[in-house]
Amino acid sequence: MKIETVCIIGMGTMGSQIGIVCAGGGYRTIMVERDDGLIKKGLENIRRFLSSREKKGKMSGDDVSAILSRIEPTTDSNKAFAESDFIIEAAFEDIDIKKELFAQIDAARKEDAIIASNTSTLSISEMAAVTSKPQNCIGTHFLIPAALTPLVELSRALQTSDETYERTVEFIKSCGKNVVTSSDSPAFIINRLYIPLLNEAFYLLQEGGASAEDIDEACKSGLGFPLGPLAASDASGLDVVLFCIESMHKQLGDKYRPCPLLVKYVKAKRLGRKTGMGVYDYTKK
Ligand SMILES: NC(=O)c1ccc[n+]([C@@H]2O[C@H](COP(=O)([O-])OP(=O)(O)OC[C@H]3O[C@@H](n4cnc5c(N)ncnc54)[C@H](O)[C@@H]3O)[C@@H](O)[C@H]2O)c1
Repeated sequence: MKIETVCIIGMGTMGSQIGIVCAGGGYRTIMVERDDGLIKKGLENIRRFLSSREKKGKMSGDDVSAILSRIEPTTDSNKAFAESDFIIEAAFEDIDIKKELFAQIDAARKEDAIIASNTSTLSISEMAAVTSKPQNCIGTHFLIPAALTPLVELSRALQTSDETYERTVEFIKSCGKNVVTSSDSPAFIINRLYIPLLNEAFYLLQEGGASAEDIDEACKSGLGFPLGPLAASDASGLDVVLFCIESMHKQLGDKYRPCPLLVKYVKAKRLGRKTGMGVYDYTKK
C-alpha cells in the first residue's frame, strides 16, 4: 500500500517537528492532540520554526505555505487513525500511555497501516504485543530538533516484519532522512550512549566539579557537540531526560541511577526552555 497520509500523535516538542518533516516530505499530515489549546500551542511552535527558517533564507515562502497546507490538526483521533497509512506516536514517555494508544490505533486503523513509536527508551515489542498485527509495528526515533537533524533511528520489535521495516526505511528516506537500525534493546543506540552522558553532566554540576557554562563549553569546543549536555537537556525538557534515565535505570540497573540534582529540578518544575527555567534561566532572554 502506498503511503499518502501520515498521522502524528502529540504536538509537543517532538510531534510538532516530526509533523514538519512529514509535511515537508509531501505527505498529508494529520496531527492529533488532546485539546484545542494544545493544538493552538503546537501550531504556534510550527509557524515560529518555519518563519525563522524563512527569515534565515533556508526555506522559501512557497515551501513554508506548502508545508502548512499539508498539516491538518485535530482532536478526533479515531477518524485520524482510520484515514492514515503511517501513524507515529509521539506522546509522553510512559509505557502504559503508549500501550493504550497502540490498542486504540489498532482498533481504528486501516488494515495495512504501520504503527510507529517515537519512544526514546521503551520497548517497541511490548507496545506491538497489544495490537492484532504486531508485525506492522516499529520504532522511529527522531532526534531533537527533528526538522534539522539528518538521522532517524529505527528499532525493530521482535515481531516487526521485513516488509514493515522496508516500507519504513523507504518512507523515512522519502522525507529526506538517513536511517540507522537497532534491535529493540533499552534506549536503542543513540540514547544508550547519550542519556547517561546528560545524567553524568548533572552529577558533575551537583558535585561542584565545574560550572554549567564550562561543562557545556567543554563539550561544544572540545567534543564538537552543537549544544552542551545541560543546554541540550533544557531544550529536550528535564522531565523527558528524567523519564529516559529512570526507564534505563529500571531496565538496565544501578549504573543508570538518575542524578538527584536532575530529580530536584523536575520536582521544582524547572523543566528547561518550555517552562522558562531549567539549568539556565530563559526568562530574561
Ligand atoms: N524531547 C526530546 O528531546 C525527545 C527526543 C526524542 C524522542 N523523544 C520522545 O518523543 C516522545 C514525545 O516527547 P516530547 O518531548 O515531544 O513530549 P512533550 O511532553 O513535549 O509532548 C507530548 C505531547 O503528547 C500529547 N499527548 C499525550 N497523550 C496524548 C494522546 N492520547 N493523544 C494525543 N496527544 C497526546 C501531549 O498533550 C503533549 O503535547 C516521547 O516518547 C519522548 O521520549 C523526545
